[in-house]
Amino acid sequence: MYTKEELKKTIVNELGEYNLIVLSNREPYIHTMKEGRIKVQRPSGGAVTALDPVMKACGGTWIAHGSGSGDRKVVDKNNKIMVPEGDPKYTLKRLWLSKEEEKGYYYGFSNETLWPLSHIVYQRPVFREEDWQMYQKVNKKFADAVIEEIGRRNNKKTLVWIQDFQLALTAKYIKEANPNIICAYFWHIPWPNPEAFRICPFKKEIIEGILANDMVGFHIRYHADNFIETVEREVEAKTDRERNSLIKEGHETLVRAFPISVDFEEISRQVALEASLKRAKKLKKDLSLEGKIVFLGCDRIDYTKGIPERLIAFDKFLDKYPRYKEKIVFVQIGAVSRVLIKAYEDINSEINRLVGEINWKHSTSDWTPLIFSKEFVPYNDILTFYSLADVIVISSLHDGMNLVAKEYIASKNDYNGAIILSQFTGSARELQEAFFINPFNTDEFVDTIKQVIDMPQKEKEKRMKILRDIVSDNNIYKWAATVIQELSKFYL
Ligand code: F6P
Repeated sequence: MYTKEELKKTIVNELGEYNLIVLSNREPYIHTMKEGRIKVQRPSGGAVTALDPVMKACGGTWIAHGSGSGDRKVVDKNNKIMVPEGDPKYTLKRLWLSKEEEKGYYYGFSNETLWPLSHIVYQRPVFREEDWQMYQKVNKKFADAVIEEIGRRNNKKTLVWIQDFQLALTAKYIKEANPNIICAYFWHIPWPNPEAFRICPFKKEIIEGILANDMVGFHIRYHADNFIETVEREVEAKTDRERNSLIKEGHETLVRAFPISVDFEEISRQVALEASLKRAKKLKKDLSLEGKIVFLGCDRIDYTKGIPERLIAFDKFLDKYPRYKEKIVFVQIGAVSRVLIKAYEDINSEINRLVGEINWKHSTSDWTPLIFSKEFVPYNDILTFYSLADVIVISSLHDGMNLVAKEYIASKNDYNGAIILSQFTGSARELQEAFFINPFNTDEFVDTIKQVIDMPQKEKEKRMKILRDIVSDNNIYKWAATVIQELSKFYL
C-alpha cells in the first residue's frame, strides 16, 4: 500500500522548490453557528473527501469559498485558519462571496449550467448571460487570491492545483498575471461528449480557460478522450497523440486520466476503533436493524444520484419477493444540497413522496422498510453506517467517480459486504467485483438485489477481498503522487 510518508517524500523530491496552493469552491471544513456556538462540519462531496488527506500529508495552502455561518468568526486578519482543529496540518484561506456572486456563479452557472450539461441526465442546462458574467468574475477573484497569496511569500515557484467545474477559467486569469505559475486542473465530474457540449453558448471561452492549465486531469480515459474531441471540434488547437496533449497558441496542456480514491488505511482504522464498534451497536439498536439485512444508500441529494430509481427498485423487490418483508431494511442517508435550485427542491419532494408511499404500502406494525435521514450526518457516523451495512446501493445515473463505493470497501475490514453499483459511475471501471446495474432498468435492478441476497457468504467475501486489494493498492496518496510525478516529468 502506498503510504502518506511516501507521498511526503515524493512531494519533497518533486516539489521541494515549490509552494503548493490548492483551489476549490467547496471548503474542507465549514464552521457553522448553532445556538450561539461554533461547530465544525466536514461537507460531503468527492473533491473534499479526496483532497483533505492529501493536504494533511503534504501541507500547503487551500483557498476556498467560506460558506459557513461561523466562518468569518474563526479566521485571522488574512482570512486564514489552520486545519483540522486540534491537529493542524495545513492552512485554509477563505474567500468571501456576496449573495449576488454566489447566486450567479455557484447556483447559476456552476450548478444550473455546467452540472447538468456535463452529467447528461435529462435535466436541461440553463444558460443565463448574467450567471456567466458572475462565473467569470468569481473565477477571477480566485485567481486574485492566488496572486495575493504568492505576493506575501518568498520567491519560490508556485504550483496551483485547481479543483473542479466551478473554476474552469481561473488558470487563464492566473497565467495572465504571472505565466510562470504552474497550473494543474482536475475536473471531478464527467466531461460530456462533444454533441452534448456544443450547445453551450460559452463553450469556446470555457475550453480556452481550461487550456490555460499545464495539465488537466479526469477520472477516466473516456472523459479525457471526450475532452480532447470537444477541443478538436470547437477551437483551433493541435493534438499531440504521443504525449496526449493539446497545444493552443504554443501552449501545451497535458490531458490525463487519474482515477481518484480515498484514504483506505485511515477509514479502515477508524471503523475498527472501539468507539465505532459501540456506535454501530447503538445505531443498530436505535434503528431496529438487529437481525435484519441492511441495505444502505449514502448520497448528497442530487438528481444525478438515481435515488428515486433505487427506491422504486426496492419497492418492486418487496412486491416480487414478499417473503423478505420484515427481514430487510433500506437506510438512505443524504445531506440536502443546492436547495435554492428548483430541480433540487423537486428531487427532495420526489424522494419524500416515494419514501412515504413505499413505507405506507409495505410497513407492518413492527417493521418500517425504509429509513430516510436527510439530517447532516457526521463523517464518523457515515463510516459506522458503512461498516454495519450488508449491501450498499450506488445507482447514479451518471457520476465522475463516486467515492462512496471506495469508502464502503475501505470500511469492510471483515469482508462482510457487497456493492450494487451503477455501470455509469467512474468507479465501475475499477471495481469489477461489484454487482453492476443499469439504474434505468428496474427489472434488472430488482433481480440484482435478489442475486446479492442469495449469493453465498463465502463468494461475497471473495469478491470483497479483491475489491479491498484494488482500493488499498490505489489509494488517495498514490493518486496524488501520480499527479505530481506526471507534472514533474514535464514542467517542474
Ligand atoms: O466531487 C464533485 C463535486 O461536485 C464537488 O465539486 C463539489 O464540491 C461536491 O461534489 C459537492 O457539491 P457542492 O460543493 O455543490 O455541495
